[in-house]
Amino acid sequence: MRSPVMLIVATAAFFPTYALQLPFKFPFFSRSVAQEPLLISEPPAAETTVPNRIAIIGAGAAGSSAAFWISKAKERFGLDVELDVYDKNSYVGGRSTTVFPYGDDSLAPVELGGSVFVKVNKILWRAVSEFGLELEDWRGDSGDDAVMGIWDGHEFLLTTGGGSLLGNWLDKIKILWRYGYKAPTKTQELLDAMTNKILRLYEPDTPVWQNATSLLSELEWADVTAQTTAEYLDLHGVDRRFSRELIEAATRVNYGQNVDQIHALEGMVSLAATGASSVKGGNWQIFENFIAASEARLYLNTTVTAVSRFSASGPWMVQSTAFKEPRLYRAVILAAPYDQTNISFSTKVPVVPVQKRPYVHLHVTLLSTSSPTANASYFNLGHGHKAPSSVLTTYDGVRQRGHPEPEFNSLTYHGHVLSKDGTKRVNAEGVEEWVVKIFSKQRLEDEWLRGMFDGKLGWVLRKEWDAYPVLPPTVEFPPIKLADGLYYVNAFEPVISTMETETLAARNVVDLLMQEQYDAGLCKPHLTEEGETARVPVEDFVYGWDC
Ligand SMILES: Cc1cc2nc3c(=O)[nH]c(=O)nc-3n(C[C@H](O)[C@H](O)[C@H](O)COP(=O)(O)OP(=O)(O)OC[C@H]3O[C@@H](n4cnc5c(N)ncnc54)[C@H](O)[C@@H]3O)c2cc1C
Ligand SMILES: *[C@@H]1O[C@H](CO)[C@@H](O)[C@H](O)[C@H]1NC(C)=O
Ligand SMILES: *[C@@H]1O[C@H](CO)[C@@H](O)[C@H](O)[C@H]1NC(C)=O
Ligand SMILES: *[C@@H]1O[C@H](CO)[C@@H](O)[C@H](O)[C@H]1NC(C)=O
Ligand SMILES: *[C@@H]1O[C@H](CO)[C@@H](O)[C@H](O)[C@H]1NC(C)=O
Repeated sequence: MRSPVMLIVATAAFFPTYALQLPFKFPFFSRSVAQEPLLISEPPAAETTVPNRIAIIGAGAAGSSAAFWISKAKERFGLDVELDVYDKNSYVGGRSTTVFPYGDDSLAPVELGGSVFVKVNKILWRAVSEFGLELEDWRGDSGDDAVMGIWDGHEFLLTTGGGSLLGNWLDKIKILWRYGYKAPTKTQELLDAMTNKILRLYEPDTPVWQNATSLLSELEWADVTAQTTAEYLDLHGVDRRFSRELIEAATRVNYGQNVDQIHALEGMVSLAATGASSVKGGNWQIFENFIAASEARLYLNTTVTAVSRFSASGPWMVQSTAFKEPRLYRAVILAAPYDQTNISFSTKVPVVPVQKRPYVHLHVTLLSTSSPTANASYFNLGHGHKAPSSVLTTYDGVRQRGHPEPEFNSLTYHGHVLSKDGTKRVNAEGVEEWVVKIFSKQRLEDEWLRGMFDGKLGWVLRKEWDAYPVLPPTVEFPPIKLADGLYYVNAFEPVISTMETETLAARNVVDLLMQEQYDAGLCKPHLTEEGETARVPVEDFVYGWDC
């Protein structure tokens, strides 16, 4: 009855020594073949022991928070679970990371990806205070001079002060003048109703969902993701011009998609911008703190190449560039967009297939310029007129007036180039500069940039992201549970793709995993009666943080 067992001992760059005890040799792991295994003729253990260890693939908002939630569950249920977090990048944060103008780390960093979140994003908001981080207003409004304009490729349809979509009373009048009273109030009503539903996800009796469809029907949102933002707003009697111009400006800057393309839930999420904030020094600090607090082992610069399983009761095996041999786990959390991981899933037990899903390929151009505004002639503005400090765009010029498509999605002055201490920094010529961020579908060449900024181009950094999913109306979403013990957090992105919702989706996955694998959960059900909730005022309660 005894089969030969191999004891494979290897040393790896990241981990001093380790031993695996496996009943078979795994031909599909070419790496292990390269190393001569040590054959042991000792009798084998009756069955392969499944270690109490969980792998998390990805150290962005999703993966870092997953580690954090597991550590919370461990604490509450007194479990002994080891955690490994893998990321192919050399940093924590994934699509949320910062860069320094001129690569100079004595300057204030600038967000390169996920930038802002709002107060109703209760997990991130709470994390900021728990970890002692500092919030700052989104540097989208360049102070008192801030002007926002909606550009249709030929002309500005609307310009308002304040840099934000719904600024001061004067801007409100301008908006009322153009769109009437009903459109903004109706939109605000719809937005408030949506926000109230989202807040349910933080309450003590919040649902744990097996799939997005069941969550959406619980929140009565199935029809909202099934139609475009334009259809949804038309149906609610919101003026077409308001949705095609002003709301489209928001869906284009936030998701690079138009209101007649993007589903209505994400379209409405684009509008929730009141009190938009960032963490001073970079949002990634939240994610780094999540990992530190979780005490997970963090393997950076480490690509996971394969995830396998030999039998339904055996361990999951994760092959990565950190170890010569696969490392064994009780469960695996995939916290990255499936198509972008390039992981091969070879298992003897079935894994639910994940359909290909395109992401928006976004060009982010960050630059510094001593030109205080963009080129007014580019925008066909008359002599003596200044270009707005924040140019948002609509596709409606193309739809309605045959205008050329705007060459970018958004172009925003983000205040001065600052030193770490917040003082203005001058460039090599002794003049102050501004930081500008441009989102576009295509690469913007230096020549184009010089034309836009009066020839005054300082630092330029280009980054291409697969930023967020293309979000057409749909009723089908990726599976969350790919197999017993294998979970997929980013299944939530086609519902809503933000930093906060990734931490929510991770919380849900951890709740499921802890229930299914450990007979536990994220929160003990009785704690609510024991008075733990009573200590937290209802409006501050955040399920997962508080139980
Ligand atoms: C330009 C831009 C602007 C945005 N603006 C906002 C905003 O203002 N507010 C907001 O809330 N959201 C914004 N977003 C969206 C937000 O950034 C994302 O929704 C969120 O950061 C996604 O987090 P995640 O952890 O799910 O994925 P990611 O951050 O992508 O993390 C996945 C990680 O997995 C790693 N990985 C992938 N494959 C492997 C592998 N095989 N082995 C090891 N590691 C692997 C990757 O390196 C990556 O670090 C923006 C995104 C972009 C690009
Ligand atoms: C990751 O790789 C980069 C560049 O190759 C290197 O600078 C960095 O120190 C590495 N980080 C870790 C944690 O190994
Ligand atoms: C979603 O989950 C529910 C249980 O919560 C289940 O009844 C339903 O069949 C699932 N749907 C899909 C598409 O997997
Ligand atoms: C994906 O993985 C395969 C091996 O499984 C490798 O040959 C290929 O180069 C990888 N592609 C990318 C884009 O990393
Ligand atoms: C400003 O834009 C106009 C129109 O695109 C262009 O002709 C002009 O050269 C630009 N100005 C500068 C200084 O590049």
